[in-house]
Amino acid sequence: MEDVMDEKASPASRGQAVYTRSVLRMYDAMVYRVNGPILWRCPTDRLVELYDDHVSACHLDIGVGTGYLMDHCRFPVEDPEIMLMDMNANSLEFTARRLRRYKPRTHQGNVLTAWDLPDQHFHSVAMCNVLHCAPGTMREKGIAFGHARSALAPGGTLFGSTVLGEGVKHTRRSRLAMKRFNKRGIFCNLDDHLDDLDAALARYFTSHEIEIHGVLAFFTARREDEPS
Ligand SMILES: C[S@@+](CC[C@H](N)C(=O)[O-])C[C@H]1O[C@@H](n2cnc3c(N)ncnc32)[C@H](O)[C@@H]1O
Repeated sequence: MEDVMDEKASPASRGQAVYTRSVLRMYDAMVYRVNGPILWRCPTDRLVELYDDHVSACHLDIGVGTGYLMDHCRFPVEDPEIMLMDMNANSLEFTARRLRRYKPRTHQGNVLTAWDLPDQHFHSVAMCNVLHCAPGTMREKGIAFGHARSALAPGGTLFGSTVLGEGVKHTRRSRLAMKRFNKRGIFCNLDDHLDDLDAALARYFTSHEIEIHGVLAFFTARREDEPS
């Protein structure tokens, strides 16, 4: 009953409700061997490289799934400080267990509402494959970049990826799959356009970059240093 009430109260809950314990057990095989490389045409190694290039010794990860990317990437130190944030308690528990060697902390929260985490603390914030699950237009979802900016220490980097609906080259198969995921409420990205992602990042960061890999947009943005 409570779940039904929650779902009515927050449309964001549809995009995370699918991550039950049994789905999470199959997630790596489904997403990193099939959906990512075959449907979305983005090799999993490229996502691991994105982490290798930008993850820091004080890292905040938003929308953690199973923690596969953090488990496979190279942190710059042996004992990074890691905060995991997700709306779904199963994802947090699964990932915290997988990464227990790093003793991560967890925080349950919605990427679209105030994060309730320390301001200007983290040197990297990752937001991989969570925005295409979140409801609303890209302009509305862009508020997440504002929250990321607040959480980043001066000089820190936001990085992430999202499956776009428009402005990238979909195949017939990928468009069909995306429509199916949207119908089931797992994705909400049919109108997510590359130009709107670009504008949303520009609204909160003075400089950013976007690279396209298949139908995924990889983005990076740096919080400028405080003026001296
Ligand atoms: C597709 S998985 C991505 C996992 C991982 N980051 C990756 O790239 O493979 C999406 C994750 O985001 C979480 N999520 C979905 N909507 C969210 C929201 N509005 N706020 C916070 N987390 C959300 C889900 O619970 C799930 O753990």
